[in-house]
Amino acid sequence: MTRKLGGGSLVIATHNAGKLKEISALLEPYGMKCLSAGSLGLPEPAETGTTFVENALIKARAAAEASGIVALADDSGLAVDALDGRPGVYTADWAERQWFEGEPGRDWYMAMGKVEGMLQELSADADRSAAFHCVLAISWPDGEHAVYEGRCPGSLTWPPRGELGFGYDPVFVPQAREGSETFAEIEPDEKHRISHRADAFAKLVKDQFGVA
Ligand code: IMP
Repeated sequence: MTRKLGGGSLVIATHNAGKLKEISALLEPYGMKCLSAGSLGLPEPAETGTTFVENALIKARAAAEASGIVALADDSGLAVDALDGRPGVYTADWAERQWFEGEPGRDWYMAMGKVEGMLQELSADADRSAAFHCVLAISWPDGEHAVYEGRCPGSLTWPPRGELGFGYDPVFVPQAREGSETFAEIEPDEKHRISHRADAFAKLVKDQFGVA
């Protein structure tokens, strides 16, 4: 049986204010007091893992060890079947562009185009199946951990469509909708109901707090 959080303080191992707010809102109803890694001055470890699980555990363990408080981290990305799961843990890296001033930026259109180019290179009718993944890892200061894996299956379309969402949303058509709208064309509330993050959180909440 998994070890339980049972209320109290929880460090959210992210320096992203949006993620902290979203995760805190989900867990505070269960008596968790969420603290941010940023506000505790915790360093951000290098994400050197080759899987979402490894990277989520690296972040959760680093925060738990440095703070002495149980920590939660997430890692997410897009895995394309015909590309053997790429970009996977490199999902954000594929959008990295070195501007001539030397300041790195993220170009999501370039990243989506790279995926599309690789698919077209394979064949004109390549399998376009893909899935967003989200792994949530809880790490206790004594080294014990729990991992929850969420998935949102779908397929890739081209060209990108829609103005909502972020990242690879404009090329991802979720299977759960049984339609042709991309994640960037559906309302955020609907996306949050069917997303990889929703799936991972539902598993965490069910296991940790017994709520289906
Ligand atoms: P991280 O887990 O914050 O490192 O995110 C990895 C990358 O995965 C993000 O930068 C996005 O490009 C991509 N990603 C994760 N979730 C989504 C999503 O819901 N829509 C679009 N892209 C996503």
